[in-house]
Amino acid sequence: MSNKLIDLKFKVNGKEVELKVNPKTLLLEVLREELKLTGTRQSCEVSACGACTVNIDGKAARACSILAVQLNGHEVVTIEGVADGKTLHPIQEKMVSHGAIECGWCTSGMVMSARALLLENLKPTRDDIKKALQGNLCADSGYVKYVEAIEMAAEVMQGNK
Ligand code: FES
Repeated sequence: MSNKLIDLKFKVNGKEVELKVNPKTLLLEVLREELKLTGTRQSCEVSACGACTVNIDGKAARACSILAVQLNGHEVVTIEGVADGKTLHPIQEKMVSHGAIECGWCTSGMVMSARALLLENLKPTRDDIKKALQGNLCADSGYVKYVEAIEMAAEVMQGNK
């Protein structure tokens, strides 16, 4: 394969980004190394742990398994784009206040999977939440508090709490 650089133009956290990238460069590398958005974790790098989850056009996706050039014309949101200034997103706020976070390694991926779910379905069942998180591995929390925090966030986002 040629190593000719390819133009990449996409939106990241609401801002247009233009770069030249090697065709083999992964989205994860662009986010962390070019754009310094290191909240997206680099962990297994084989699409197994979910730590690198971002939202692409509102859907959860693993940045370690997507070539950056595939993002041309698309919109990516990373954990850095979730809060509104200094105000945490309800998902973040509930994960913190409910004590869901242990070491925090998986948390950004959990938030991004939950965000994608709630963008699509603001009234998820507990099973919907578990399904949305099934690709996000966590060694510490046991998942229960994450699931409960997402339920609470959904309530807030529905305007019920
Ligand atoms: S680093 Fe991408 S799924 Fe683990």
